[in-house]
Amino acid sequence: MEFVPDTRNDIDSWKEVQLVYNSALKEIGTKLEILNDEFQHVHQYNPIEHIKYRLKSPESIVKKLKKHGHESTIQNMVQHVNDIAGVRVICSFTSDIYRIAEMIINQSDIKVHSVKDYILNPKPSGYKSYHLIVTVPIFLSDRIIDAKVEIQIRTVAMDFWASLEHKIYYKFEGNAPEHIKQGLVECASMVSDLDARMLALNEEVRCLIADRDSEVDVMEDID
Ligand code: GTP
Ligand code: MG
Repeated sequence: MEFVPDTRNDIDSWKEVQLVYNSALKEIGTKLEILNDEFQHVHQYNPIEHIKYRLKSPESIVKKLKKHGHESTIQNMVQHVNDIAGVRVICSFTSDIYRIAEMIINQSDIKVHSVKDYILNPKPSGYKSYHLIVTVPIFLSDRIIDAKVEIQIRTVAMDFWASLEHKIYYKFEGNAPEHIKQGLVECASMVSDLDARMLALNEEVRCLIADRDSEVDVMEDID
């Protein structure tokens, strides 16, 4: 069921919005932690480095509604702001990003609203990340409602770049000097290179370890 907040009282309906989106963050958080634990159990390795959660502040929600020409009502928040609940998943390797995204998308209670692959198609700023907007069911006492969550999945290196770029963007209110913008684009390309080389090194190490372990197995067979 689509989330339709009770709008008879503004304070109560804002509290309801917070309750629903906080619950959505918890649901997605649990799913991600289970996937990470299972991965550790099966493959002896954690694809997720860490996870950040945030509820968008009322000020930012109102700013976004204004930007898109919508009146600041609770109804409009729920309908037009897709990132009231935000989860950021930080992985070690680019391959982990797609693995995590696929595992989330394939869960039967998750509905995918939109997918934006800024790794395949980076933004002109150099921004790279994988974005999903999904809905997750929230089981309340008298109904089940679908709550939207924005999930951003990126590597540690992409996250480092995005947080610096974000700070610079705000410092210059979006109008950073050209050489700074150019510097960021160059750093973004170094980030992609670093991610590719770290992934290749990791793959090589995994193959070497697998070979070594199979040699040990053969030796044990001879004994
Ligand atoms: P917003 O209105 O900014 O939320 O963007 P959108 O609704 O068009 O969606 P988009 O997928 O472009 O961006 C969603 C979120 O990704 C933003 O709120 C930021 O957190 C992040 N993001 C997008 N582009 C950039 C970027 O160029 N630099 C950084 N640092 N973050 C970005
Ligand atoms: Mg946003």
